[in-house]
Amino acid sequence: MSRRATISGVGGELPGEPVGNAHFASYLDTDDAWIVSRTGIEARHRAPADMSLVDLALPAAERALASAKVKAAELDLIIMATTTPDQFMPATACLLQARLDGAAGCPAFDVQAVCSGFVYALQLADAAVRAGQAERVLVVGADMYSRILDYQDRGTCILFGDGAGAAVVTATETEGTGIAAVDLHADGRLAAIIETPGRVSGQRLEGTGAFAMDGPQVYKVAIEKMAESARAVCDQAAVAPADLAWLVAHQANLRIIDRVAKDLGLADERVVRTVARHANTSAASIPLALASVWDRIVPGDWVLFTAAGGGFTWGSVLWRA
Ligand code: UT7
Repeated sequence: MSRRATISGVGGELPGEPVGNAHFASYLDTDDAWIVSRTGIEARHRAPADMSLVDLALPAAERALASAKVKAAELDLIIMATTTPDQFMPATACLLQARLDGAAGCPAFDVQAVCSGFVYALQLADAAVRAGQAERVLVVGADMYSRILDYQDRGTCILFGDGAGAAVVTATETEGTGIAAVDLHADGRLAAIIETPGRVSGQRLEGTGAFAMDGPQVYKVAIEKMAESARAVCDQAAVAPADLAWLVAHQANLRIIDRVAKDLGLADERVVRTVARHANTSAASIPLALASVWDRIVPGDWVLFTAAGGGFTWGSVLWRA
């Protein structure tokens, strides 16, 4: 049996009190019925102004370490997936490392793949472990879209929430367990369908720009690519989609999750759905969803992670507990 990477622990954090759909209906031309029927979202969390992304990510990371029974001092690598870093530099992973007692010294860097960020980061952790370059990797997905949303745009502001999730990836020699297949893609020609249009150019920052999205186009491409990629990892590992125990898809829209699940022929109880209570938390959504079913995953379960988002990026990871 060759060395593989497995997920040994998870943790999540949502800031403050939930903000219900009624809040948006109080000042925008929208209502709870539209939001719930089109997205499945009932609430989202919004970080207070004095909270940094590292403040939000730290408890998720600490919970994941405790759940995996790994000490921060034992980490060989920290990878942070985020689109909303506290600063352009240094990487948020380094800022987080400074808050994790004993973690100083190991490499730490950020990955920017928007809503696919956690799946991209998991691929890097898997590769480092299989190559023998790391035994214990902290993988964090954290985002604060409240910092980049236009709260007057009803088409986007209702869709996102702040959150953080983390997983500890460790080496295993146990036969038949661990990350069995990975499938990652990007198509930069579709960059404009999700973006913050402002840019860093010339000699100064020309404004960051608020989040903008072509919702219907993203909806269509996300379903097509997530289903295609989910099938690709199943094929790689010779696992029938019907044998999946859990589908942990990016939590952006209940209709997208259900369409992907239907495409794979999965029964309802195998599909993890957390989008109703925290909306789209971008890179945090998969580890938050995983944390919600962590205690119900049993050894031998096939767990499929799949995501799509800005870039346009998409991909999947197939893991056996
Ligand atoms: O992580 C990846 C990131 N993003 C996503 O995954 C999002 C993917 N896209 C979606 O989830 C859906 O496209 C949305 C939920 C964003 C929109 O749902 P839709 O069914 O595609 O609606 P639409 O954009 O085609 O808009 C239909 C109507 C429009 O009105 P008209 O032109 O038909 O009069 C919109 O202006 O709904 C209107 N609308 C709203 N109405 C009430 C858009 N937002 C709202 C709103 N409340 N919040």
